[in-house]
Amino acid sequence: MTILITGGAGFIGSNFTIDWLNQSNEQVVLLDKLTYAGNLENLISIKDDPRYRFVRGDIGDSDLVARLLSESEPRAIINFAAESHVDRSIEGPEEFIQTNIVGTSRLLQSARAYWESLGSERKQAFRFVHISTDEVYGSLKADDPAFTELNQYQPNSPYSASKAASDHMIRAYHHTYGFPVLTTNCSNNYGPYQFPEKLIPLIIHKALSGEPLPIYGDGEQIRDWLFVSDHCDAIRRVLDAGEVGEVYNIGGLNEQSNIIIVHQICDLLNEFRPRGDKGSYRDQIEFVKDRPGHDRRYAIDASKIQRKLDWTPSMTFEEGIRSTVLWYLDHSDWVANVTSGEYLSWTERQYS
Ligand code: NAD
Ligand code: TYD
Repeated sequence: MTILITGGAGFIGSNFTIDWLNQSNEQVVLLDKLTYAGNLENLISIKDDPRYRFVRGDIGDSDLVARLLSESEPRAIINFAAESHVDRSIEGPEEFIQTNIVGTSRLLQSARAYWESLGSERKQAFRFVHISTDEVYGSLKADDPAFTELNQYQPNSPYSASKAASDHMIRAYHHTYGFPVLTTNCSNNYGPYQFPEKLIPLIIHKALSGEPLPIYGDGEQIRDWLFVSDHCDAIRRVLDAGEVGEVYNIGGLNEQSNIIIVHQICDLLNEFRPRGDKGSYRDQIEFVKDRPGHDRRYAIDASKIQRKLDWTPSMTFEEGIRSTVLWYLDHSDWVANVTSGEYLSWTERQYS
C-alpha cells in the first residue's frame, strides 16, 4: 500500500512523513514543488529509506499528478501543499490563489479521475485528506466561544480566503461526486523544521542573532498553539477512522497571547544560552507596526475529534516549547542554511 503526500517538504508535511515512516510499513510518495518553504534537508533522515520516493512537481500539474497516481496507485492522498504565510499573502496574494485555489482544484480533479478508475473495493477504501486552518473562521472576540466545525467561514486575509476557497472545493467534490474527502482545520503549529518566518522560530533566530524581536501591534493577539507531532497524530486518526465528508477541528487547548509566547522563548534562551552581556533576551523585544487586518484571536473547540476519534493533544505547551527551543539550538546549521537561502541554491543545482 502507498500514500501520496503533497507539500511534504514543508514544516508539517515533513514532520508527518517522518512520523509516518516511523509508525507504518506503507510506502510514501511525496510530491512537492520545493518553493522557498520546501526544503529536502527536512527529510534527510529518511532519504535512503526504500519506502520513500520524492518527486518534485506542482499539485496543479495535472499530467504529472495523473502519471504519479497511475504509477503509484495510492490508497490515500494527504494534501499539505499550500502557500502558508499570512504576511506573504498580504504582500502578494497571487501565488496563494494559484496554489491554494487553482492547484487544489486541479489536484482534486486528477484525484477524482484516478478514484473513478479504481475497482470497487479500492474505490470504497480510498481517502483524500485536506489539511486546512482555523483561520478560515475569521477572528474571535475575547469572550466568544471557540470555533466549532459549524462556525461560519469569515476569512480575513488573502491566505485564509484562499484556504477557505480550497475547503469549499473539497466540500463540493464530496457533495457533487461522492468523492471521499475529509477536511481538518487546525490551529497554529510549532515544532522542528518550521520556517523562521513564523512567530516562534523567527523569535528564536532573531534573539540568537542579537536582532530586535518584532511584536506586531500590542502583542495581545491570541493563538491556540499545538505541537506539530500532535497535529500529525490527529491527521493519522482522521485518515484511519474519520467519517467521509466530515470536517474535524484540531487544536492545542492552549490559547496564549503573542507577547506571552515571546516572553517564554526569551526566558528559555536565557536559561539555555545566556547572552554574553548577561542581559535578558526580553530586552530585544520591539513593538512594531501592526499587520494589516490582523486577526485578534483564534481558538479551537476540538471536542468533536476528541469524542468521535478519541484524539487529544499529548504534549503540554511547556514541554513542547522547551523541546522546540532546544531543537533550534541543536540545529543551527539547518537554520543557517534556511536563512541564508543556501538550500535554495542546492535545489536549483539538483533540479536544473
Ligand atoms: P509550509 O509553507 O511550511 O509548507 C508548504 C509546502 O508546500 C512546501 O514544502 C512547499 O514547497 C509546498 N508547495 C507549495 N506550493 C506547492 C504546489 N503548488 N505544489 C506542490 N507543493 C507545493 O506550510 P506548513 O506550515 O507545513 O502547512 C502545511 C499545511 O497545513 C498548509 O495547507 C497550511 O495551510 C496548513 N496549516 C498550517 C498551520 C501552521 O501553523 N503551520 C496550521 C494549520 C494549517
Ligand atoms: P504567524 O506565525 O505568522 O502565524 P499566523 O499569522 O498564521 O497566526 O504569526 C503568529 C502571530 O504572531 C500572529 O498574531 C502575528 C504575530 N507575529 C508577530 O507579532 N511578529 C512577527 O514577526 C510575526 C512573524 C508574527
